[in-house]
Amino acid sequence: MNTIKSFLTTILIVVTVVACTKSQNKKLALNTNSTALTIDEKVDQLISMMTLEEKIGQMNQYNGFWDVTGPAPSEGHEAKKYDHLRKGYVGSMLNVRGVNDVRAVQKIAVEESRLGIPLIIGFDVIHGYKTLSPIPLAEAASWDLEAIKKSSEVAALEASAAGINWTFAPMVDISRDARWGRVMEGAGEDAFLGSKIAEARILGFQGNDLSKNNTIAACAKHFAGYGFAEAGKDYNTVDVGTSTLNNIIFPPFKTSVEAGVKTFMNSFNELNGVPATGNSTLQRKILKDKWNFDGFVVSDWGSIMEMIAHGHAKDLKQAAEISANAGSDMDMESYAYVSELADLVREGKVSEEFINDAARRILKVKHELGLFDDPYKYCNLEREKEVIGSSEINEVVLDVAKKSIVLLKNENELLPLKQKNQKIALIGALASDKTSPLGSWRIAADDNTAISVLEGMQKYSGNKLTYAKGTDVALGKIGFPFELEINTNDKTEFNEAIDIAQEADVVVMVLGEHGFQSGEARSRTKIGLPGVQQELLEAVYEVNKNIVLVLNNGRPLTITWADRHIPSIIEAWQLGTQSGNAIAQILYGDYNPSGKLPMTFPRSVGQIPIYYNYKNTGRPTTDNPNIVFWSHYIDESNTPLYPFGHGLSYTNFSYSQLKVKAKGKNQIEVSVVLANTGNYKGKEVAQLYIRDLFASVTRPIKELKGFKLVELAPNETKAITFKLTEKELGFYNNEGVFIVEPGNFKVFVGGSSDTVLEEDFSLK
Ligand code: BGC
Repeated sequence: MNTIKSFLTTILIVVTVVACTKSQNKKLALNTNSTALTIDEKVDQLISMMTLEEKIGQMNQYNGFWDVTGPAPSEGHEAKKYDHLRKGYVGSMLNVRGVNDVRAVQKIAVEESRLGIPLIIGFDVIHGYKTLSPIPLAEAASWDLEAIKKSSEVAALEASAAGINWTFAPMVDISRDARWGRVMEGAGEDAFLGSKIAEARILGFQGNDLSKNNTIAACAKHFAGYGFAEAGKDYNTVDVGTSTLNNIIFPPFKTSVEAGVKTFMNSFNELNGVPATGNSTLQRKILKDKWNFDGFVVSDWGSIMEMIAHGHAKDLKQAAEISANAGSDMDMESYAYVSELADLVREGKVSEEFINDAARRILKVKHELGLFDDPYKYCNLEREKEVIGSSEINEVVLDVAKKSIVLLKNENELLPLKQKNQKIALIGALASDKTSPLGSWRIAADDNTAISVLEGMQKYSGNKLTYAKGTDVALGKIGFPFELEINTNDKTEFNEAIDIAQEADVVVMVLGEHGFQSGEARSRTKIGLPGVQQELLEAVYEVNKNIVLVLNNGRPLTITWADRHIPSIIEAWQLGTQSGNAIAQILYGDYNPSGKLPMTFPRSVGQIPIYYNYKNTGRPTTDNPNIVFWSHYIDESNTPLYPFGHGLSYTNFSYSQLKVKAKGKNQIEVSVVLANTGNYKGKEVAQLYIRDLFASVTRPIKELKGFKLVELAPNETKAITFKLTEKELGFYNNEGVFIVEPGNFKVFVGGSSDTVLEEDFSLK
């Protein structure tokens, strides 16, 4: 049967190739799209028709250029890109957006190139396209996989309506360093939570049918180790041990493959001496061979060329050779493949089989997207108008924004605010800022399109609300080129803030980082409140101690003074388009906070890297004041300001009756009773951690291995069960093999990584 099928396929291919070659048809590629063939067969057929240069063309990605709907450029760099498009030497474009522009570039590829192969159109849809969800770190704080998936789903819906069919997201890099500006783009410090969120995001973007016009291909990035840049300095060297690589960095990437992610992006950094882009162990041995990833790998922006600066390739030609051989399938903006690869193949330095493999992978994804059936399927002007900014999308982003907020502290039930007869002073430039909540990844979103906290609070009209800025957030220009200087010394408007604070029952202060102070290339060495905001906070505190501090930021901050003095603190990150509405609903108790930190908050920068799943060391923490030589600082505690998993509610939750039962070989059932002992209905993220006490490769003192989001009415009680299997109880040894070792374990359950209930069990 199979022999007959392959014989018929061969005949069909030969006939089509002959027919196509003879006919000079401009749409040869679309002619290979016979429904009788599988996608792999269609791709093979197309590959057999392509010249070496055309196959390499598929591996070339250009950034958007000229006013695509205007006249074609006739000279310079842009003219070259245009010429390459017409020759079929471009497989993808990024940063071309909007139906008109996408249609215009697609038209050149499809109608003017010899084979008419459609482009795949990439864009950084990181937390939305035009209508923005919270930054990814904030969304991770929701621990709500459904809400996160939904947020990616509407991001795909909106982006696809603007012509885009491929996002460079999710970023699944684990990071333990709040100095690194890109922590805002990931899911925090934990591999287990990070893997679950990676999966949710991929399913959200890609849906269950990639060929629909409202789903887009996702991209797990940056492979690998980017989040471990030394000293939190972006693009810096990465030097991590095997165990960390296997157990912390790799899991979200492996999960991404299992979730069916269509593409990967490699990373700027070197990893143990070899740039990731030229690293064949990472890309070929692990990703493509061991994990069986069948999508394609795109380089990061210019990362092929950057191997010269890394000191790994002597020129662009060698960089192209190394990265193509290492399994980087597509070149983003290094111009290396398009200019060097054909010669390298002719010289025998890169095998044509590698080129075929890369082109095959890229063409396959284009087929799966349905681009060969209709290259303009994402280019419907009416749909673009209808979908972008729709109320459906705004509802989803508001929902996830509320769920992303974390209540860090709430003394004397200062929160929620009363909805009537309270005099409230709102202070801080960020409180009226309509741009900062959009964060730094907001290429398509317009300035001033977020709902500010001031606007959100004005909707609650039962109170007297006064507002003063107190101090500017930003001096100079915020934007591109980025001038990130936050107001460092101007206190002229302090008095106005102090005056309204004096008159108020409660002061709400919105302080923190501007949206452009975190993100790519925005590493910081000082992560307190920037500028004179700390001084403003202290000055207001002098006149009114009833302060609710609302933090806006893209990374954990060292807010030790605030934690000591301010009764209520809310972590509200950068929450996107609906930011002010979400914050107001939390402040006034229309939504009871349910978020939990996905990243540890340090007390001081000197503690970084600080994370909950550290190793015990040979000289662990001790309470004995007479012991001097143990692993600690002499000027700072070992504990964080707020631990991973921390987050309060307006109600109280209590955990009891932790029980562990063995259920068959290496199957453990853990149960606990959760009760709402407070006065409000609320949601709690019940977290389960384990500790493997002795192992051939030492294990952390706690590892998250399960969590459940549970909603309870006041006085309600629920029994919760978790299942632990080999998947949760094993680990990767230093050969990269997953093993499960018998021995003694501890299990902990509670509302943060600082859990109180614990039990023992053993594996036989
Ligand atoms: C970033 C990537 C991003 C790419 C394209 C790079 O600078 O590292 O994450 O997808 O630019 O915009």
